[in-house]
Amino acid sequence: MRFLNFGSLNLDKVYTVPHFVTGGETLSSVYYAEYAGGKGLNQSIALARSGSQTFHAGKIGSDGLFLKNELASEGVHVEGIYENGLITGHAIIQVASTAENCILLYGGANKEITSTQMDKVIENFDSGDFLVLQNEINDIDYLISAAHKKGLTIVLNPSPMSESIRNLDFSKIDYLILNEIEGHVISGEKSPSRILDYLLSHYNHLKIVLTLGAHGAVYKDNTQEYRQEAYQVKVVDTTAAGDTFLGYFLSIVSQKSDVKLALRVATKAASLAVSQKGSSSSIPFLAEVIG
Ligand code: RIB
Repeated sequence: MRFLNFGSLNLDKVYTVPHFVTGGETLSSVYYAEYAGGKGLNQSIALARSGSQTFHAGKIGSDGLFLKNELASEGVHVEGIYENGLITGHAIIQVASTAENCILLYGGANKEITSTQMDKVIENFDSGDFLVLQNEINDIDYLISAAHKKGLTIVLNPSPMSESIRNLDFSKIDYLILNEIEGHVISGEKSPSRILDYLLSHYNHLKIVLTLGAHGAVYKDNTQEYRQEAYQVKVVDTTAAGDTFLGYFLSIVSQKSDVKLALRVATKAASLAVSQKGSSSSIPFLAEVIG
């Protein structure tokens, strides 16, 4: 079983600040660091570190080769990463003393992938393989259609949320992994149970994981429902926690067909990620998670 992750690659510029800068304010940061990031790259690293055969596809500029090298050094297959983008995507991330973050994205090359480039990647994958998507590259609707035609299992993490997500064809999506805010925008509902009920009443085939931050996560499909509480840890930086969760959940569920176990291991992995500063660098290895 192979995971094709068609997703973003970003240079993360991370500023540690006493509080988020507000309009009209000039604020000095107390610490600065750069990391390999992007929801796509982070999720590929989480998939690889949790033991899945992972293929990353996406686009960078000549200034982003280190991102491709970073993935390759994790054992991720990188032949599907195009290098002819204008400027590599980047993210300006503020991490406040509360450990919360806020992120300003510049999509750059992530938003310049042509349909021909998408087709070329997809033609190498077949039914039995997974396609993992987030919302940081262009034309994910095109990728969903192309992958569906080939019988891939499609996983959507609709993050960061945008109006265009509501127009996607959810009948072609198999796994939906989302947080409460994303669930609210898609369903119009506020409580976790109503969000899940709305989604399943419209798309009965979906396997849904709703992440609830400090309250853990819930899995629901048309026959089963499981809840997992969060692990209590000292939270330092929440960046990439959701990406860590997703990679670990998919690895375990695809290898062991055990949703309860997958939720537990993914939640533990995310709790280790939030205990560390950084984006992809905070994603734990399998031995740390199950050790
Ligand atoms: O999920 C965290 C990621 O979101 C960061 O690495 C940043 O690049 C943004 O894409």
